[in-house]
Amino acid sequence: MNNIKGVGSETDLKLQTIKRSMLIIQVMLVILVMAPGYLILNSSYLAWKKKEEDRKSVLGKLEEEKKRKQENDALWQAPVIDSTTMGKDEYALINYGRELITNTAFYLGPKGKVAALTNGMNCQNCHLDAGSRPWGNNYGAVYATYPKYRARSGSEEDINRRINDCMERSLNGKALALDSREMQALKAYIEFIGSSVHKGEKPQGSGIYELPYPEKALDTLMGKTVYTEKCVSCHQLNGEGIKDAGGIVYTYPPLWGPHSYNEGAGLFRISRFAGYVIFNMPQGATFLHPQLTQEEAWNVAAYVNSQPRPKLDLSKDWPVMSEKPVDHPFGPYADPFPESQHKYGPYQPIKDFYKNKKKG
Ligand code: HEC
Ligand code: HEC
Repeated sequence: MNNIKGVGSETDLKLQTIKRSMLIIQVMLVILVMAPGYLILNSSYLAWKKKEEDRKSVLGKLEEEKKRKQENDALWQAPVIDSTTMGKDEYALINYGRELITNTAFYLGPKGKVAALTNGMNCQNCHLDAGSRPWGNNYGAVYATYPKYRARSGSEEDINRRINDCMERSLNGKALALDSREMQALKAYIEFIGSSVHKGEKPQGSGIYELPYPEKALDTLMGKTVYTEKCVSCHQLNGEGIKDAGGIVYTYPPLWGPHSYNEGAGLFRISRFAGYVIFNMPQGATFLHPQLTQEEAWNVAAYVNSQPRPKLDLSKDWPVMSEKPVDHPFGPYADPFPESQHKYGPYQPIKDFYKNKKKG
């Protein structure tokens, strides 16, 4: 019995081993057959998925471009000076105003034909296309919004006063007499440029673009790199720009140094500078085709405005301390933040401080 049983279990064992081997072979066969199929399926699925993603991202990009183009088309556009629809004197005055803005140095610069009042820059160096380019620091909203209260002077300012602000600060010069033909012409031109804008309105595309605040403090070293790579060819290593062969007008205007805007000028505020360059510099950049990232615009603004430039007595500016803009770099302030943070950020905590103060 025992023997038979022994033999029987031996055969059983063999049978079991064979069965197990068969099973393993079967499983291996299944894997061998399935694996390539799976791999093929999987890779074609992945390829399809990638194609689908690419298609979506192209669509997304097209959609984004379309939106931006629509946005661009809706930006404020300046009217064209048309001699046939104006009186002769009106036309002459407006045209002279335009001429003064494009060729300021020729009339009012250090060797000016009319008077020597300014540093040699043109209004147009900062108010592009004679103050008519969308987001090019244009005059679109001026006629519609002046006279208005301005916190910098703490008083109501009319257009004449605002023009003289730029004469004394951006052009680091002297004011124009209010009754001069030059002042009348500048005013007439600026009013003409804004003549289609409703009173009190500030159309999209007028003035300077408001960039969102960056989260971190700005980095002047990174700004210097941007400057070296994207600005230096025109504005030069020492920031002094290049004059044309005649030596009267700048081909490339200065960004710092004795002939640049002074510390009281709008561009000396880093948010104004960054908002100006983002869609205008390097020359050729536009709203549709910017050439700087927002971060680059902020950092290059910080770098340029950390360089030396003419000073101005600012003791009468911002008479109401709490109305100083967040990025005005000179104290005293109605808040606990240091000058360095006002200049280079982060700006949001300062903004929040005043918001909470108002609420509380
Ligand atoms: C160095 C650059 C620069 C130059 C040169 C310059 N400006 Fe300005 N101007 C600015 C900046 C910056 C502002 C402020 C824009 C802002 O804060 O949104 C400004 C504002 C103005 C405004 C008010 C705009 C508004 O919407 O409130 C007028 C008007 C003006 N400038 C006229 C002139 C005239 C006229 C000249 C030439 C005589 C001139 N500017 C030269 C930079 C300049
Ligand atoms: C290809 C030449 C060129 C390059 C590169 C260039 N700019 Fe300009 N920039 C100009 C010209 C030209 C003007 C004056 C525009 C006008 O008069 O129409 C100007 C004007 C300016 C102004 C206002 C006027 C002033 O002098 O204050 C600022 C600010 C400025 N550029 C900043 C920059 C910055 C920052 C960069 C680099 C990111 C840059 N630019 C790169 C040619 C250039």
